[in-house]
Amino acid sequence: MKDAKKPTRASSSSRLGGRLAGVASMLVLVSLGFVLGVTSSNAMFIRFYLPFIAPLRSTTAAAASSSPSPQSPPTPSSPPPPPPQEHQQTGALPAGFLSAGPSDGVMHNMTDEELYWRASMAPMIRHAPSSRVPKVAFLFLVRGDLPLRPLWEKFFEGHQGLYSIYVHAHPSYSGSPPPDSVFYGRYIPSQRTKWGDASLVEAERRLLANALLDLGNERFALFSEACIPVYDFPTVHAFLTGANTSFVDCYENGGSRSRYRPFFATRNITLGLWRKGAQWFEMDRALALESVADGACFPAFRDFCVGRAECLIDEHYLPTLVTVLGWGSRNANRTLTYADWKRAVNRHPHTHAGEEVSEELIRGIREDGGGRCFYNGGRNGICNLFARKFAPDALEPLLRVAPKVMGFG
Ligand SMILES: *[C@@H]1O[C@H](CO)[C@@H](O)[C@H](O)[C@H]1NC(C)=O
Ligand SMILES: *[C@@H]1O[C@H](CO)[C@@H](O)[C@H](O)[C@H]1NC(C)=O
Ligand SMILES: *[C@@H]1O[C@H](CO)[C@@H](O)[C@H](O)[C@H]1NC(C)=O
Ligand SMILES: *[C@@H]1O[C@H](CO)[C@@H](O)[C@H](O)[C@H]1NC(C)=O
Repeated sequence: MKDAKKPTRASSSSRLGGRLAGVASMLVLVSLGFVLGVTSSNAMFIRFYLPFIAPLRSTTAAAASSSPSPQSPPTPSSPPPPPPQEHQQTGALPAGFLSAGPSDGVMHNMTDEELYWRASMAPMIRHAPSSRVPKVAFLFLVRGDLPLRPLWEKFFEGHQGLYSIYVHAHPSYSGSPPPDSVFYGRYIPSQRTKWGDASLVEAERRLLANALLDLGNERFALFSEACIPVYDFPTVHAFLTGANTSFVDCYENGGSRSRYRPFFATRNITLGLWRKGAQWFEMDRALALESVADGACFPAFRDFCVGRAECLIDEHYLPTLVTVLGWGSRNANRTLTYADWKRAVNRHPHTHAGEEVSEELIRGIREDGGGRCFYNGGRNGICNLFARKFAPDALEPLLRVAPKVMGFG
């Protein structure tokens, strides 16, 4: 719609006419280059130098609707226009990336190196156009299936255009959610991960990078397959997009310092900068950009992990990065994801089985710590928007209590 206006406005200025013709033919050339780029992998150069025009369009099932009313049904996908046209309309994020069909909306052939570089680009104009509705990117770091998917689907229902979903599964996973699911086609190119290993942090950064490619995403939250929301979508979206901090768990005590090693001092990460915190982050776009662009802190952690069976950097990397950046005041220093550590088993929090799920349990999680948690400098009564860990058999009881205590379903 916005694009339709452009030619009219431009043609009214005859001075620009000649230049526009030049731009138009350049676009056609670039688009041709793009077509070649897709067929010949050598043309990577061209893929990365496509112009940004209207970068806010995305293929999230969602983004199609600008008015996220619960009534509006998902727009059926129409056949894609010919490539040159498509470029001028969607403004060319990486080749085939945002214009791919719904079945592979987030699939691409970029290496991590290419992906991080592409994702690290930021607009120079600080304030986004007012037409832009900030989206929340939900990043799922999972082994394969999402046993609690139906609960999340109820959570997302009717809020198309306000969220994007990205799933990083084990690369050997070949399953897929059903085509009518909002999770369909949202699995990103993945690599193997291991608990407590640098590969886990790599997977988190890969999720962040994929989500950064969509300039509509403003907030980024990490989940596992055992995570659930405990509030409804409008509350979560308003809380996150209205926050002036990130929510990266970050603290310092004897326990956190015990994992510090002198190796880090050789990389300028002193004990004074060393922090610890739960891995389940929620962050703003600025911190997400720093994380994928981080060429100092992450390499130090990765190098430290080489040859170590279990280096547990997932609990140290992000909180330490926040401190290294000097962004302490831009971080709430807490996670928004509840976990029951009172009944921890082997350094993992308690897993709630189906039989434990009740209205009281969910209410307790929603009220946990209430009043103590700060939000934009004040107290708003919400400490946890999400919770873990829930066993697959918790799905049915969760669906049953959701309308009563979570406000959806
Ligand atoms: C990735 O590369 C393969 C093989 O060259 C190709 O078949 C596939 O369409 C490409 N996928 C995307 C999303 O570009
Ligand atoms: C550590 O910081 C010093 C001073 O800023 C700098 O010269 C040096 O290159 C840094 N070392 C590393 C490994 O980043
Ligand atoms: C978070 O912790 C840092 C110290 O690591 C502190 O400087 C900062 O003020 C804290 N942020 C908030 C919002 O309280
Ligand atoms: C966030 O908002 C509160 C309340 O206006 C303010 O006191 C605080 O300094 C802000 N923090 C940041 C990082 O902008």
